[in-house]
Formats: sequence, C-alpha cells, structure tokens
Amino acid sequence: MKLLVLGSGAGGGSPQWNCNSEVSMAVREKRDGTSIRTQSSIAVSADNENWFLFNASPDIGSQMLKNKQLHPKKKPRHSPISGVVLTNGDVDHVAGLLTLRERQNLSLYAHKRVHHVLSQNSIFNVLNPDYVDKREMVMNKEFELETKTFKKSGILVEAFEVPGKIALWLEDESKGANFGTQEGDTIGLKISSKNSSKSFFYIPACAKITDELRNRIDNSDLILFDGTLWKNDEMEDSNVGEKTGQRMGHMNNSGLDGSMEIFKKINVKRKIYIHINTTNPILLDYSNERKIVEQNGWEVSYDGMEIDL
Ligand code: MLT
Ligand code: MN
Repeated sequence: MKLLVLGSGAGGGSPQWNCNSEVSMAVREKRDGTSIRTQSSIAVSADNENWFLFNASPDIGSQMLKNKQLHPKKKPRHSPISGVVLTNGDVDHVAGLLTLRERQNLSLYAHKRVHHVLSQNSIFNVLNPDYVDKREMVMNKEFELETKTFKKSGILVEAFEVPGKIALWLEDESKGANFGTQEGDTIGLKISSKNSSKSFFYIPACAKITDELRNRIDNSDLILFDGTLWKNDEMEDSNVGEKTGQRMGHMNNSGLDGSMEIFKKINVKRKIYIHINTTNPILLDYSNERKIVEQNGWEVSYDGMEIDL
C-alpha cells in the first residue's frame, strides 16, 4: 500500500492568502527550512495504479499536477483517481469535489451527515449521479473501497466517530456551545490493504482523545494525526484571530492536554502530524517547537511525502 501526502496544511494552507504572521511570511520569502503546504488531503493506493483520495482539498488541481501518479494515463479521458473518502464537511476537505466534475466515474464515501449537508447545497449537483456514486460509510465496520463500477480496490477502511465540531460553514449559534455538532460530523479512519499486514490511522481533526480512541489506536504502526495548532490560544497569540483550538475542534500539540503528552502513554510506532495550520511554528524546520515535537517522536508531514506500508 502506498500513501501520498497531497496537502499537509490545514484550512487555508501555508502561506495563507491574507496571513502575514511568522510562518506565512517565512514561506513567502522562501527561507531555508520552509515549504509551501497545500490544504489537507492524502491519496492511497493498494496497487500503485488506482488511487483513492482521502478528502478533496480546494488545492486539488495543483496537487494532482504535482503528483504524477494522479495524471491521466490513457486517451482521451482518464484519471487514476477511483474515488474520494471524506472525514468531515469542512471546506478544506470538500471544496475539491467541485474540481472533480466532468464525466469521470467516482465513488464518494462519507458519513451520512456529510452526504446530507452536501446534498442540501445545490452547487454539489455538479457531481452528476450518472458518474459519481455516493456511498454512506457505516461506522465501526471494515469495508473495502470499490470503484463506481464496484471493482474492488484492495483498500480496506474502518471509519469511526471522533470528538470534533460541525463544519465551520454549518455552525448554528442558536444551537448552543457546540453549534449544532452531532456524532459523525468528524470521523477518523483506519486504513489497511489486502496485500499488507500493516495499517494506519488518518485523523486530521480531533478535539480530544477519548478512552475509546486510545484503545483503538494503541499498538498501531502509523498514525497521521491532527497537528493543527501548537497551543490552544495560538491564533490569538499570533494576532490573527481569537478562536482557540478547542473552539475549532482541534487538539493542540503541546501542553499537558496536548497530543504529544497524551500519546506518551499510547504505543504507536510512527507518529506524523498532518493538517497543520500556518500559525504553527512546527512548520519551520529550524524552530524550537519543531525540535520538541521531533524529540517526542513526532514527524511533521510535508506535501509530497510518500510512505510505503
Ligand atoms: C478546520 O479544520 O477547523 C476547518 O477546516 C476550518 C475552516 O473551515 O477553515
Ligand atoms: Mn480543516
């Protein structure tokens, strides 16, 4: 099984269009130890030929261009992309679906909550049902991803709900402190393949590690985990916003309640941060915070990172 990080950044990417704080600025200036990070997505293949996207980023056009595995291989129309799996309805994970229109067979897997909100928004009607087959993911039950014509992909997925938040564009303040969040608004995935005994977890958004989640990921080979913020009040600290990580449905890396600390008691062979916000200093290769995450056994993903499993 092959895993390709298409976009290691959080919503807005890094640099972010209207952000001129330290990381965005350093990336724009092309300083050594910086790199551009597009918005959140990975691609997985069990046969190195047919690929499934996990989340469809607004940057999907440049991501497909940069990764030749995703280029058309046959004339006149072709794509190695067989389908898409969504972990939530956030803009950084669904806007790329609009680029995947135009007469291409795809299977689209999501929780029924996410399918519902997409169906309520008529712009997603560009995904012509003659070509795009919407499939509901049942939680906590492993299944094999299949193409639109039900060809087996060799990729096995188990989806499960994790603590998180309803998509920003669906928040309803009248519904109280959680803005109308329901189970299934944020999910994590365990991904494995028929041709390998290894599996990995992909959890780009997670507000808290519950005992259930801890048990699920304990003794695993690899996790790609929510690396959005270094600390909870980072946006305010960088003067770019007032929302905390918890308000946005993301755990911080540092601190006693942070993922680095919590993962010390969980046995995961390889730990990689993904969905990293442009305010997070771990994005700079030369930062002290990068040193700290590495000392704690974490890697920081980058666009174009490839992993064989
Ligand atoms: C998030 O991960 O919190 C969202 O992608 C935020 C957004 O929609 O910009
Ligand atoms: Mn996001």
